[in-house]
Amino acid sequence: MCGIIGLTGSSDALRILREGLETLEYRGYDSAGIAIVDRDGSGITRHRSAEQGHAIADLGDPSLVWPVSPGAGIGHTRWATHGAPTHDNAHPHADCTGAISVVHNGIIENHRELAAALVAEGHSMSSATDTEVVAHLIEREHLRGLAPADAVRSAVRELRGDFALCIVLADEPDLLVAARRTSPLIIGTGPSVGYVASDIAALLPMTRELFTLGDDEVAEVRPNEIRVTDLEGGLVELSPLRVTWDVRAAQKGGYDDFMTKEIHEQPSAVAETLLGRFADDGTTDFEELGLTRSQLAAFHRVVFLACGSSYHAALSASLATEHFARVPASAEVASEFRYRGAVIGPETLVVVVSQSGESVDTLHAMREAKLQGATTVAVTNVVGSVMAREADAVLYTRAGPEIGVASTKCHLAQIALLEAFALHLAIARGVIDAASLTRAGAALIETPRLITRCLDKIEEYFSVAQRYADVNDFYFLGRRIGYPIALEGALKLKELAYVRAEAYPAGEMKHGPIALIEPGAIVVVVATRTTLWEKVMANVEEMRARGATIIAVAEEGDDETESLVDAVLSVPATMEFCSPIIDVVPLQCFAYAIARARGNDPDRPRNLAKVVTVE
Ligand code: F6R
Repeated sequence: MCGIIGLTGSSDALRILREGLETLEYRGYDSAGIAIVDRDGSGITRHRSAEQGHAIADLGDPSLVWPVSPGAGIGHTRWATHGAPTHDNAHPHADCTGAISVVHNGIIENHRELAAALVAEGHSMSSATDTEVVAHLIEREHLRGLAPADAVRSAVRELRGDFALCIVLADEPDLLVAARRTSPLIIGTGPSVGYVASDIAALLPMTRELFTLGDDEVAEVRPNEIRVTDLEGGLVELSPLRVTWDVRAAQKGGYDDFMTKEIHEQPSAVAETLLGRFADDGTTDFEELGLTRSQLAAFHRVVFLACGSSYHAALSASLATEHFARVPASAEVASEFRYRGAVIGPETLVVVVSQSGESVDTLHAMREAKLQGATTVAVTNVVGSVMAREADAVLYTRAGPEIGVASTKCHLAQIALLEAFALHLAIARGVIDAASLTRAGAALIETPRLITRCLDKIEEYFSVAQRYADVNDFYFLGRRIGYPIALEGALKLKELAYVRAEAYPAGEMKHGPIALIEPGAIVVVVATRTTLWEKVMANVEEMRARGATIIAVAEEGDDETESLVDAVLSVPATMEFCSPIIDVVPLQCFAYAIARARGNDPDRPRNLAKVVTVE
């Protein structure tokens, strides 16, 4: 949430900052702003825009005056937390004199008490944000005679909450100061240039010399020098970040939007993720875990923690883990787990699932699990992300950067990886026979080809969706492995098309929600030929009897299912536990088409940001 970029040492600062903001826009698009220090001594120039849809473009308006000799500069694209998405609340925020500018991602939890104290001391606040106090705190410390980095260190010591900060000061034009706690921040270097950004994608066009900044560390970035210290001022060594993504991976590559591109990248995202996981004899390879088979077999329980689409992947994984590895497994919403006083301990393997590796709820849930003695594994797509660094072990989905706000290719890659891991656990526990293992491994390896078969039908999916583009209420039903699929289909429709979409386990409808079904209700049901197909179809009959229109995700050539429903989104048949990797594809396309038909931008769904770094 919120994207930050900073640079120093470039005469082309404005262009680089704006392009960086465009790349970071998926982190939030409520407003944008840039502040650049003038090396000729006229202070900091700051421009901001809260014009929805073209805030970053506004910053390129030729009528705006910027320093001719730019020093350090910072930029920000906002997802509003504290304060409405207005011009005054847009970042960068300034101190009383305008000599200090700050951009921030995260939440300063004690901002009210800090603001009250600062106002009592004579500072005046000009925004409703939690961020502005940081500029005034640094001002206060700087006025007391502290050097910039010391002033930032002193300010940071007063902050509670999670934050990534980047600061420029008029009296040291080439200096960028950055600090973080929990929220992500990456440092980059080039020939006589220094960079700071919220994520790798924003810096890749300029440099691959990247470093991570640790919790409660302060970086002083100058054109030819980076100095990192802890909150006591002790020197800290920079940790390099190895990046395999290339620049093109973070661009649209000829597609209309990132979501379409990423939907089409799903076969390769899953194939890359599974690469090297299975040997010819069916055994699995998860060597990077650093856990032997006997260590894995010793866990009494597996708990998956995640949010949103990653939670749906975790739900599929928990079912597969129990089915194949015969070990108690459950999936929990990370934001609830953290506060519910869960009873876990060293006998529990906790797997956190997070595309970004940054979602603050999942991160804190993971920290809580670690505190209680659990072994933690992070499943993430982002190398060097906070969760990847803090977990006991990491498994990477190799999906390439996912920019579209709604998760698609990472969701499928997560399920594929976690299902392979379920088989790995099954081998470790000695509960799977060779034939079942070979069958399951082969089915997983086949999924990229089956996703491609789905993508060949994309126009069919779109044309079914067009028929329901005006509908405002949908119900998504599934049972067992079909339930996480229903949840994901409903979430995609909600977040992209802004229509109500409720997902239920199909058998649960008659315990209450069926009261809502009347002629005109649209029910999307996962009706592939799993072991529960007959029960699912009995539930469908109950909906039809009350006048609902039924759209089924059904297998190609399944005339029987087709004859019982009003429309079909057809998918190739696969093994039951691979079905979430296949059956979600038409539902992604369904939501996309309805969103487009309603005039919504699928890459920028309202009120959302790609990475949720605030609670
Ligand atoms: C929905 C979506 C979100 C994320 C959720 C978790 O399309 O993308 O629900 O899945 O915010 O994000 P990560 O996986 O980065 O922890």
